[in-house]
Amino acid sequence: MKVVRSAVALQKLLLPLKKKGLRIGFVPTMGALHEGHLSLVRRCRQACDVTVVSIFVNPLQFGPKEDLKKYPRNTTRDIRLLERARADILYLPDEKTFYPPGFQTTVRVSVLSEPLCGRTRPTHFAGVTTVVARLLGIVRPDLLILGQKDFQQYQVVRRMIMDLEWPVKLVMAPIVREKDGLAMSSRNVRLSKTERLEAPKIYRALRLVRQAALKGERSAAQLKKILKRALSAIAGARVDYAEIVDAESLLPVVKLLPNRTYLAAAAVFFSDARLIDNMLLRVK
Ligand code: PAF
Repeated sequence: MKVVRSAVALQKLLLPLKKKGLRIGFVPTMGALHEGHLSLVRRCRQACDVTVVSIFVNPLQFGPKEDLKKYPRNTTRDIRLLERARADILYLPDEKTFYPPGFQTTVRVSVLSEPLCGRTRPTHFAGVTTVVARLLGIVRPDLLILGQKDFQQYQVVRRMIMDLEWPVKLVMAPIVREKDGLAMSSRNVRLSKTERLEAPKIYRALRLVRQAALKGERSAAQLKKILKRALSAIAGARVDYAEIVDAESLLPVVKLLPNRTYLAAAAVFFSDARLIDNMLLRVK
């Protein structure tokens, strides 16, 4: 795997590959890699000739009181994991070169950035879309892969790509879970032992919602109640949100209608570690 630190070096590496007509896939990350990220790399390898991964802890997507400083970083381990997963190129910029002095552009998707995580993290998605826009401008991939765990991020980036008519195909990869159901996340390492034992209950709460929907519950208010009640019962957890929304608009719904896709979504704090998870719901 080639490791490059500058946009120019990366483009020099990619240009001849693109000229040969090779299909370039891109997996952006903030490092602290786990099996979830590696599943994106494998998926990318299946679909593309060249897999580019980036590691960049993007300061723009952290609010002033959020965990930028505490965000886990372990580049040596990440490189080893990416080599094992057979990524071809790692783009590893540092903050100064990635956002050079004078950088002042923001890319913001308005409506989709506001509900769910946007309520607690009002500047988060503008930070995400700005960094993804810049990364896409540098890498210019044919395929971009994002994980379902950050479903709102996926929808926001999807909207940005559509609005700006960028020639990149966006693919969403499924959530990868620990054996006990906890969605893999770089933030899981920040859970205490007892919090780690409680955290899988977020997934169980989402499953209760799915079961209720499968049994015929169509009222979004009832499903939300089920989700909220189950999340509130988790010891040491503070519920940030529990919502049932339309999976495309991310807006609240009243009733689940047949053949439409909905999202049960949750964000829960354990101490100051904020975990998110979600489940797609589709009723016949
Ligand atoms: O999902 C993430 O890890 C980040 O939000 C992303 C897409 C790499 C942008 O910094």
